Amino acid sequence: MSVECFVTGGTGFIGQHLVANLSAKGHTVRVLMRRPKRLAALREQVAHLGGDASRVFAVAGDLEQDNLGLSLADREVLRQAKVVFHLGAHFAWGLSLEQARAVNVEGAKRVALLAAEQNSRLVMIGGYMLKNHEHLQRIGIVPHNPPLTDWPAVYRRVGSYEASKLEAHFATLALMSAKGGEMTVIHPSTVCGHSRTGHILDGQPLVALIRNLVQGKLTAVPGTAEHWLPMVTVDYLVELVAASAFDPAMAGQELLALDAQTPNLRELLAEVAQPIGLKSPKHYIPLRLLKWLLRIPPVARFLNTDVEALDFIQITRFDTAAVEQFANRHGIAKPDIRQSLRHTATFVHSYCLGKEEALIVGQ
Ligand SMILES: NC(=O)c1ccc[n+]([C@@H]2O[C@H](COP(=O)([O-])OP(=O)(O)OC[C@H]3O[C@@H](n4cnc5c(N)ncnc54)[C@H](OP(=O)(O)O)[C@@H]3O)[C@@H](O)[C@H]2O)c1
Repeated sequence: MSVECFVTGGTGFIGQHLVANLSAKGHTVRVLMRRPKRLAALREQVAHLGGDASRVFAVAGDLEQDNLGLSLADREVLRQAKVVFHLGAHFAWGLSLEQARAVNVEGAKRVALLAAEQNSRLVMIGGYMLKNHEHLQRIGIVPHNPPLTDWPAVYRRVGSYEASKLEAHFATLALMSAKGGEMTVIHPSTVCGHSRTGHILDGQPLVALIRNLVQGKLTAVPGTAEHWLPMVTVDYLVELVAASAFDPAMAGQELLALDAQTPNLRELLAEVAQPIGLKSPKHYIPLRLLKWLLRIPPVARFLNTDVEALDFIQITRFDTAAVEQFANRHGIAKPDIRQSLRHTATFVHSYCLGKEEALIVGQ
């Protein structure tokens, strides 16, 4: 059955894979685009990722604008959408509170309002930190009464990207509940490249990690032997997202998309170093010390790392029984994460690193 879908963030890393997945299944996919002239490039990429480009259409708009900046004609067309997938976000470190809120919080509320007004299922991408309850408590979030949270303090504590994602989550839940809308939230951990091709886009945290390894800037493992950076492959993630959108049992539910088999950080670095012929670090640097060093601007520039990124490296383990049951029920196989990490490293080495960086590896 072909269904009308509206996707925000469809030009981004996860979004491209989701658009390819949905269009390959025969759905019509309308993508919110700030630069709709890039539709041809998006279609080409979607076809490259195994999707059906002829089913992909652009809708001009911007998360930062009232009513998403949609024309009246596009607003009418979007009323047909059975599902609204919200992936669009300003994903960067070092944002101001205002920059992050304008897109990630206000944009999410605009998308939720549109979905609620026209009775579309809203499928939203959150983040796995929302499932780390101790962390939420530690940074001052009041999950059972989010309006009591001192949000500016949270922004100062964890940085604007993460804080805005957390604020957006609670604001959207409240809005959908007030409007009686149907919502499903998927919380991915850090996203790894495609399990077979390794495809990933530059700008993703894993690419930054591999680049730092190649440039010799990661000479010690942040944290301890217990620390890990939980991963999920992009193909497994989009299968979960697509399946949850059409599963009536997922209305009002949240799902953590995280591969519990992700190795600890030291082993993860060894996995990505091996296919590109690099040595991986063996010794550890305490996270506190690293965070302190990163407050010194020249050190931060040299290490090409941001304190905000370090929060995602942690020792908390998560219960993944729900996602495993969900995947089994829908016949979604979980790829081998170690192999996916190696494929991603090979892809990054071939397509994301500049010539000089690739030469460093070749030496
Ligand atoms: N990647 C991860 O490891 C990870 C982990 C957990 C959660 N997430 C969440 O997953 C979602 C997708 O992440 P991603 O990695 O695919 O991000 P991404 O590659 O950075 O893509 C971001 C997308 O958002 C769009 N966007 C940004 N600002 C916009 C605006 N003002 N109006 C309309 N569209 C706008 C971008 O469009 P343009 O092409 O116009 O720039 C792009 O399509 C985000 O919500 C992110 O927080 C990601």
